[in-house]
This record gives sequence, C-alpha cells and structure tokens, in this order.
Amino acid sequence: MDFAEVLMRIKEASPKHRLDIGDPDLPPPPELLEALRKEEDFRYGPAEGLPEFREAVASAFGVEPGEVVAVAGGRHGLAALMWVFRRRRLLTPTPYYPGYFDIAGVFELGLGLVETDGGWMPKFAERGVYVVNYPNNPTGVVLPREKVRELVDVAEFVISDEIYRDIVFNGFTSPMELSSSVAVVYSFSKVFSVPGLRIGAVIAPRDVAREVAKFNRATVNVPPTPTQRAVASVVDILPRRRAEVSEAYRRRAELAAGWLKLEFVRPGGAFYVFPRVADDVRCFEAALAAGVSLLPGSLYGDPRHVRLALVEDEERLREAFTAVNAACGGPR
Ligand SMILES: Cc1ncc(COP(=O)(O)O)c(C=O)c1O
Repeated sequence: MDFAEVLMRIKEASPKHRLDIGDPDLPPPPELLEALRKEEDFRYGPAEGLPEFREAVASAFGVEPGEVVAVAGGRHGLAALMWVFRRRRLLTPTPYYPGYFDIAGVFELGLGLVETDGGWMPKFAERGVYVVNYPNNPTGVVLPREKVRELVDVAEFVISDEIYRDIVFNGFTSPMELSSSVAVVYSFSKVFSVPGLRIGAVIAPRDVAREVAKFNRATVNVPPTPTQRAVASVVDILPRRRAEVSEAYRRRAELAAGWLKLEFVRPGGAFYVFPRVADDVRCFEAALAAGVSLLPGSLYGDPRHVRLALVEDEERLREAFTAVNAACGGPR
C-alpha cells in the first residue's frame, strides 16, 4: 500500500479519530494570527528571504543573517539541500520520513539506508552526506550527544531535519552544536501549528545558503512574504511556545505509554508513537474499521510497526487507544 492508497482508504472510511498525518491540533499562537491579519503588503521579495525574517531566525539560532534562507516549508528546504548535495552519497537512518524518498524520487537520487537497533539508534560508520531527523518522525527518539558526535565525526556533511526541535521532552543536541558542516532545516509548521502557511528556514554555512537561495529562485522564487513578516514579528514568543507545546505533547506521550497496550520505545520529542505490531497493514485496516486512522510502518520502511500521531486531546486519545488495543493487540 502506498501513501496515496492509504489516504484514499482513510477518506472512504471517514474515521472518528484521525491519528494518521501529523497535522497538529493545538491552536496556533494568537499573536501570530493577529500579525497575519494585519498584513497588507503582498509584493515580491528577495529569493533568500526578507531581511527582517533572516535576522529574526538568525537571532533565534545564534547565527548570522547570511546563514539563513527562507523556504516554503521544511520539505522545500529538504528538497533544496538534497539537490545541492545530489552528487554525493546520501544516507538516512531507517525508519525514515517518506518525504526524503519523494524528493530522491523526483530528482532521481539514490538514498542509502542506515540500520538502527531496537532503541532506534543508528550506527554511523559510512562516509557520506547524512539526512537525519531528530526528534524523529516516526519514532519520536532523540539522539544522545555521543551519537550526534559519532554522526558528525563520520559525515562529510549533515542535513539535519529539525522540524520537531521545539517539541522535546528531555533535551536535544543539534549536530550544528558540534560541527560547522551542517545545514539545519527548520519549520514553523509544527511549533506554531500552521503547516498550511508553508514557512520555514534553512540555517547553513554561507556557501550552502547561497545554493539554497538559487534553488528558491528556480522553484518558488520568493517564499511567501506576508508570512515571513508575520512570523518574524513573533519569533520572540518561541521560547514560551516551545515550553507549552513540549509539555502538551509530553503528557500525551506519557498517557499513551499507560493506555496503549502495544510496545513502543518511549519518545523524547515530536508527537508520534511507533508501536510494534504483527502486521502493519492488518492493524491499519482493523483500526480503521474500529474508527481510528493510523499509518502503516511500511510507509516508513518498517512493516512491523504502525505510527500514531498524538494530535487529539487526552480524552479522545484514550478512546482511540482503547479501539487500537482491541484492533491491533494479540500475538506479535
Ligand atoms: C520529519 C519531517 N520533515 C519535514 C516535514 C515537512 O514539514 P513542513 O514542510 O510542513 O515544514 C515533516 C512534516 O510532517 C516531517 O515530519
């Protein structure tokens, strides 16, 4: 079953609980909605992003504005970077975010897989350009600092997909802290619950940032300017927002550990759990029949697991997990 078929099945079934795609349910910050409402300037802007946007993101990351490029969502930043490094050996740990293969597919790039152990820890040994994502989708795991060290020691360059860096339960080390050969892909989709706004940033060494701006010019040309301005004006709320959303999703992950009778590695961030099942498609179908949509792990390269997005309130999640226990429990 591919992603399109899975979504078609979900649409047909119209389940009561949508725990499939990672569309955050927490309301966006009112300050951002207010800033968006005030926008009246819809002109073009520079391909690398508006100066005020680059400055705001640079100050949040402690880098120079010349190291920041606005992109139309994290996925666009990932596409730009995979294109920039298209002639190098690209590698990613399994299970993986399927978007990497969507991008590799249209650019006709190879993407090598790195095996992980039972705690979803990869062994970084091969030289190459790594595309990594921590906190991870689908597992929620975060790499300990020693693993990040192992990664930067072996990598020629790291494309660090940090879309969930603001949803962490016990700390997070970005490869950027340990090496300068790193480009971070950041997005406001998850932390501000605004995936439809399509706004993110690449934070990278200047030469790489310039290449990302070229990719912008060839694709969206100008990332949405009113959105950049609105987001730039509220970047200072990030620390508070980060604390709020992390706490909300941490609680849900903890409740999932109590309520869900399937085994999973406890997440250290993001808003997913990735429990083990006997057969992912059978569990998907049975859960759907019981009113819950989840995603088969084979979409992430692992048919012995399913992914549930923790994007409903606690009461609804309890009801959904009870249904999933009955649908997908039993011998594994
Ligand atoms: C791991 C990962 N990377 C990138 C993205 C893309 O996010 P966006 O393009 O909305 O910023 C997502 C979205 O779900 C994701 O889970």
